Amino acid sequence: MSSKPKVLITQKVHENIQAYLNEHFDCTCWEQEGVMPRAQMLESLKEVQGVFLSGSPVNAEFIEHAPKLRAVSSASVGYNHFDIEAMKSKGIIGTHTPYVLDGTVADLVLALMLSAGRRIAELDAFVKAGKWQKGAVKGNDLFGMDVHHATVGIIGMGRIGEAIAKRAVNGFDMELLYYSRSRKPDVEELYGAQYRSLEDLLKESDYVVMITPLTPETENMIGKEQFSLMKPSAFFINASRGATVDEQAMIEALQNGTIRGAGLDVFQQEPTPIDNPLLKLPNVVTLPHIGSATEKTRYDMTMLAAENLVGALTGGKAYIVEEL
Ligand code: DGY
Repeated sequence: MSSKPKVLITQKVHENIQAYLNEHFDCTCWEQEGVMPRAQMLESLKEVQGVFLSGSPVNAEFIEHAPKLRAVSSASVGYNHFDIEAMKSKGIIGTHTPYVLDGTVADLVLALMLSAGRRIAELDAFVKAGKWQKGAVKGNDLFGMDVHHATVGIIGMGRIGEAIAKRAVNGFDMELLYYSRSRKPDVEELYGAQYRSLEDLLKESDYVVMITPLTPETENMIGKEQFSLMKPSAFFINASRGATVDEQAMIEALQNGTIRGAGLDVFQQEPTPIDNPLLKLPNVVTLPHIGSATEKTRYDMTMLAAENLVGALTGGKAYIVEEL
């Protein structure tokens, strides 16, 4: 019988990472594409001390099925899928993967700003639909809004927010406003960032970027009232979590011209249903929550999550989520 701790790996990982996990653990693994179905996951928890997952909820139901559980390692920086209180009450450690994805998510935010502002997806569809004919591109019908020298307001100035700030200021000469739980003197000094109240940030920004973690304080932080403060020419970018925004209010703001457009990597419900009105709006660019999805970054996140699981179960180094 193996003396290694038993762990459950709920998604297929790269062979190098699997080999590393096998060195340290007696692993039960999901070998198919995608994520282990929830019912099977719950059934497989009984004997395990550790679990490797991505966004699956670690809630009271999960914990009830896992009497020997000591650590859950998530291959994500966000950990709103952890019920921190329930985990704490059983002494279960939760870990996440900060640092390794900052630049990748920041790149995607810039891509969303450029795509929404310069109408890339809309005009790609225009060309592919054969609408680009001589004389069809006249006047200002297809014009967009500059990103360079525009004002960006970043809500949530953590590590990813700072990576966005760097790109916006150094690459695009943008004016930078931010709203965050605390002031960030380094970011103010390095990038000329100016702190604003949420209300003032919304009023003054051409691009509002939501990149705050989802917490009870940030849930539905942006709703009808907040959209009404934004400029009618402004774009709203969300690469945080869908639940930070009242999606219905956003749909109305986009339909009514309260704001000009949006670039969204995240939704209230994921995958978002095909009948979501957002998918019908030409002024909205949508992505399937791919903020960190490059080969290298996902490899790094998965490796870090594996190392976190080893650290958490052996008393070594691990990125334990802040609230625990
Ligand atoms: C995270 O790691 O929390 C990201 O949302 C994944 O793309």
